[in-house]
Amino acid sequence: MCGIIGYAGKKVAAKVLINSLRRLEYRGYDSAGIAVLQDGSINFSKKAGKLHVLTDELKRFPLEGNIGAGHVRWATHGVPNEVNAHPHLDCTGKIAVVHNGIIENYQALKTMLIKEGHKFVSDTDTEVIPHLIEKYYKGYLLEAVRQAVKLLKGSYAICCLHASDRKRMVGARCDSPLIIGAGKNENFFASDAPAILDYTKNVIFLNNYEIAEISKNTIKIININGKTLSRKPTRIKWNISQAEKSGFKHFMLKEIFEQSNVVGDILKERLKNNKIHFEELAIKEKVFKGIKNMAIVACGTAYHAALTGKYMLEDLAEIPVWVDTSSEFRYRKPIVGKNTLVILISQSGETADTLHALREAKKRKAKTLAVCNVLGSSIAREADGVIYTHAGPEIAVASTKAYTAQLAILYLLTIYIGRIRGVISGKTKKKLLKEFKKIPRLLKLTLNDFKSNKNKIAEYAKNFRKYYLEKHNKSTFLYLARNINYPNALEGALKLKEISYITAEGYPAGEMKHGPIALIDENPWVVCIATKAKIYEKMLSNIQEIKARGGIIIAIATKGDKEIASQNVNYVVKVPEISELFSPILVAIPLQLLAYYVAREFGYDIDQPRNLAKSVTVE
Ligand code: M6R
Repeated sequence: MCGIIGYAGKKVAAKVLINSLRRLEYRGYDSAGIAVLQDGSINFSKKAGKLHVLTDELKRFPLEGNIGAGHVRWATHGVPNEVNAHPHLDCTGKIAVVHNGIIENYQALKTMLIKEGHKFVSDTDTEVIPHLIEKYYKGYLLEAVRQAVKLLKGSYAICCLHASDRKRMVGARCDSPLIIGAGKNENFFASDAPAILDYTKNVIFLNNYEIAEISKNTIKIININGKTLSRKPTRIKWNISQAEKSGFKHFMLKEIFEQSNVVGDILKERLKNNKIHFEELAIKEKVFKGIKNMAIVACGTAYHAALTGKYMLEDLAEIPVWVDTSSEFRYRKPIVGKNTLVILISQSGETADTLHALREAKKRKAKTLAVCNVLGSSIAREADGVIYTHAGPEIAVASTKAYTAQLAILYLLTIYIGRIRGVISGKTKKKLLKEFKKIPRLLKLTLNDFKSNKNKIAEYAKNFRKYYLEKHNKSTFLYLARNINYPNALEGALKLKEISYITAEGYPAGEMKHGPIALIDENPWVVCIATKAKIYEKMLSNIQEIKARGGIIIAIATKGDKEIASQNVNYVVKVPEISELFSPILVAIPLQLLAYYVAREFGYDIDQPRNLAKSVTVE
C-alpha cells in the first residue's frame, strides 16, 4: 500500500530515490513521484502509471539536489492520475509530502483548512498534511510536523521537505511502517528495508507517534510531546541479492525456487541437537502449559497457513484451535482471554487488519505470538512474543516462500508446544523431526522435476489457455482436497485468482456433494490434491464423481502411486512421498507453479497483478 523513501546525503537524490522506489514498487504501482530540494526550492516530478513512466520523464528532465523524497502509489482516495500522485505540496509550494496510509479525518481537516484559505488541487486525503504543516510552520520543520500529525486520525508514514531547510528532512509514523536507514554520510527514511539495502543495513525502527529529522550526518528522533529519544540502529541480515531477480524472469518464480533453501535454513537455525530454539520468542514455557485454547488469526495466504496450523496443533499438540481472518476477528467479540494464545501470522508484519486483531486480542488479555517475516515490523514488535520466519525479502505480490516458511515454523511450534504440554513424547518428537528434516531435499527434488520438465505443468497451463479461449473465456478452476491439504486447495485457488484473474474456488472435497458439484460439466478444470493420505480412497471417489460429469482433472499425486493412473484423470503431477502431516509443504509447489504458468500463458504482469499491493496497510 504505497511505498515511501527519503534521502539526505551527498549523492544525486533523484538517482537514489528511483533506485529505492524500484525496490518498493511491489507496494504500489499505479503512479509514482519524487521531490527534491534544489537551490532553495522544491522541484518535483510525478506521473501516472508504473515507475518506468516516471524514470523516462526524469531522463528527459533530470532533477538535481542531494535531498529528496519519493513515492509509489496504490490509490485509496482519488483515481490514479498525475494530480493525485505524490508528492503533495502546500499553498506556497515550499513544503512537499509523501505519505503511506489513510487519513480518516481528512474531510474535516480539509474543510477547516479551506475555511482558513488553503487551496487544494487533488482528491487525496494526503494533501491535508502539507497544508497542516504550512499552518504550523514557524521556521522549524520538525516542530511543524509534530504539531500537524497531532491532528491526524488514521494511519500514516510520511516524509516531508521544506524549501527553506536545505539540509534536513522530517519523517513521522503511526500504524504505517517507517524505518530510518543509518548510512555513512547519508541517511534514509523508507517503508521497508529492501529499499535501502544498496546503501546500508543499519536501520532504526520508528514507533508510532514518533517523528524524526535526518540530514546527511545526523538523526534526531522525538516523541509526540517533543521529547528527544535515543535509539540504536539494528543490523539487518538481508542482502541485496535476495531483493533481486538473479536471472529469473519474475520474482515469483525466483521465490518459488528458493523454498528448499528457505525451509533448510529454518531447520538449521531452529534445530540444534534436535532441540527446538526460538530465541526471540520471549514467552515463557509456563504460559504454553497454562493455555486452554488457541486462535490463529491472519489474512490471505497467511490465513491458509493458519488453517494448516490448526490441523497440526490439534492433531499433535492436542489443543483446541480456531482460525479467523483478521478482519472478522477484530470486529466481532472473540471469546479470548488470559488462557488463550492468539497467534498472528503475517509475512509483512504490517497488515492493518492483523495488527488491529492483535490489539483486540491484547485488549482481551490473551497472550499474543506473532509469526512474521519482516524484522522489526509492527506486529512483531507489538505482540508478546515473536518467531521470525527468516525467509528473506518476498517481493512478488503473490506470496510463496513466506507461506512454506510459515508452515515450517508452525510444524516446529506445534512440536515445541506439544512437548511442553507433555502430549508429544521424546520418541514421537524424534520421529517427527526425522520426517521434517527430509523436506528441504524433497522440496529440491520437487522443484527439479518441474525445472527438468518431468512434471509438465507449463504444458498443462498452455493447454488450459487454449481450452479457455475455445470456450469463449468461460472456463474456471476448482481446487479440491481433504484434511490437512484442504487449506492448500484454498491457497492454490487464491494464487490463481491473484495473478491470472481466473475464477477459482477451493473446497474440502467432502463438501463437493453439498453444492459445488453442480458446477461440474466439461467447463471447470478441477485440481484434485490426491497425495497418499488416510482418506486417499475418498479422494479417488471424488475424482470419479467429477469424471462422471465431464470435469477436466489435474491430479496432484504421490510419486510411485499406481492407482492414480487407473483413474483416467487428464493430467497428473507427482510430488515425492512424505507422511500426510508434512505433505502440504511439498504440495504447495505445483499449486504455485500452476498459477505462475497460467498467468504467464496469458501474458499478465505476474509480480505486480492488477489492483493488489504486497503489504495491505489499510483496512
Ligand atoms: O503480509 P501478510 O502476510 O499479513 O499479508 C497477508 C495477505 O495480504 C497476503 O497473504 C496476500 O493474500 C497475498 N497477496 C497472497 O499471495
